[in-house]
Amino acid sequence: MMPVRVLAVASEVYPIVKTGGLADVAGALPIALKAHGVEMRTLMPGYPDVMRLLSGAAEIRSWPDYFGGPGRLLAGFHEGLDLFVLDVPHLYARPGNPYVTAEGVDWPDNGVRFAALSRVAADIGRGLVPAFVPDVVHAHDWQAGLAPAYLHYDNRPRPATVMTIHNMAYQGKFAPDLIGSIGLPWHSFNVNELEYFGGISFLKAGLQFADRITTVSPTYAREIQSDEGGMGFGGLLRARASVLSGILNGIDISVWNPQEDPHIAYRYGAEDLTFRAANKAVLQQQFNLDSSDEAPLLGVISRLSWQKGLDLLLEAVPIILREGMQLALLGSGDRDLQDRYQAVARANPGRIGVVIGYDEILAHLLQAGSDALIVPSRFEPCGLTQLCALRYGAVPIVSRVGGLEDTIVDVDEAAASGRDATGFKFAPVTAEALAGSLRKANAAFHDKQTWRRLQRNGLATDVSWSGRAGDYAALYRDLMAARA
Ligand code: ADP
Ligand code: GLC
Repeated sequence: MMPVRVLAVASEVYPIVKTGGLADVAGALPIALKAHGVEMRTLMPGYPDVMRLLSGAAEIRSWPDYFGGPGRLLAGFHEGLDLFVLDVPHLYARPGNPYVTAEGVDWPDNGVRFAALSRVAADIGRGLVPAFVPDVVHAHDWQAGLAPAYLHYDNRPRPATVMTIHNMAYQGKFAPDLIGSIGLPWHSFNVNELEYFGGISFLKAGLQFADRITTVSPTYAREIQSDEGGMGFGGLLRARASVLSGILNGIDISVWNPQEDPHIAYRYGAEDLTFRAANKAVLQQQFNLDSSDEAPLLGVISRLSWQKGLDLLLEAVPIILREGMQLALLGSGDRDLQDRYQAVARANPGRIGVVIGYDEILAHLLQAGSDALIVPSRFEPCGLTQLCALRYGAVPIVSRVGGLEDTIVDVDEAAASGRDATGFKFAPVTAEALAGSLRKANAAFHDKQTWRRLQRNGLATDVSWSGRAGDYAALYRDLMAARA
């Protein structure tokens, strides 16, 4: 197998810094790629948590003035991940969430912060670190979108480039006057390059100039070529369709393993789900729900944003109550949704439990103790919580979009597709259609054999990275062969 060197560029990497699934992917893929002969190093910003957790840090380069202040490039590692860290304190030494202030607004200098990251990615791509000259630079989401653009405008020998879209809704839009201060040529400001509705978009930069574009499921790869799903980039992606593909995400099955999970109350294996009931009881306690094994417990683990469709689930609460089901929701995000969920929990003690916040440990218990996991997204590039649910024996109830469509087999489509049913899918994405699925799931829950079969099929589904990492490895090798 021809060895391949890849520089991945990501603004968050599990288990160091995480706000969503991007971190999970950026943290798991390099490890899964080792078996495929791919040596991947990941470049990320030196946020305080990164600086604290980095082991064996060695300074590779330093600059007295990097985008307005002193900066260094470090190499180091953390839990099996080989990292480059861009330590530029005036840009990254800020507590909390990587993108927003404590008040929840974007840092005003995000344009410069992530241009700086992409600039050094391009430089590593062109040989800044002689010990690691990559064959491919792989940029994740808008924060890394300028890397392919810098390489393009440098107009020198360069590695191949891949841009992966994890979410079309985050486009990295900035005022055009940023161009001058981040070292891009002014002629880039036109509609065929970086210009986007009068400003510039870092995501567009990546989509325009990367050799290949991937997104995280085949269905989302199709959806984003439409005007609606493309969220402004449908036309661009239709024009680049020949280099666009969808590769499904996996999950790290050692982090998500009910047999060895340190975060759940009782561990269990696929052959014996008896201990799920004990986890359910603990979950009911933690969410102040009535203790009952007979009431189906619906779980949600999610960012609270328009994308996730959780306003539709609020509308379906009367059905949950009428059907004798319970709901446990763990999430954080939009103020309005947080308030509405807390109000509905106060109004329905014992039946609806809500924890507002980000809690990794509770997320594991939710997977182990919920009977079903609900993901009613309006759009979902891939989605990871439904994959964790399959692995834990919680039956997914999902909308028929993006990666949810690709990863769950609906009870009614199983026979025709020759695959085993693993959950419930609804369309269109409305409160009524969701309510219909909830009713169907409730009936199935009370038919113990049907429910066990759904759980068993889920547990037998391969949700690991092993095959999917092979698809990325093949993509890198393809690119290299094309340039040889
Ligand atoms: P997205 O990246 O759009 O938020 P994904 O389903 O791809 O959606 O990934 C979300 C990841 O974040 C999963 O690993 C999920 O378990 C985790 N997560 C989301 N919300 C929370 C929360 N409130 N507490 C703990 N983990 C969460
Ligand atoms: C994004 C998407 C989610 C996907 C994740 C990882 O945050 O919203 O669907 O699973 O990225 O690719």
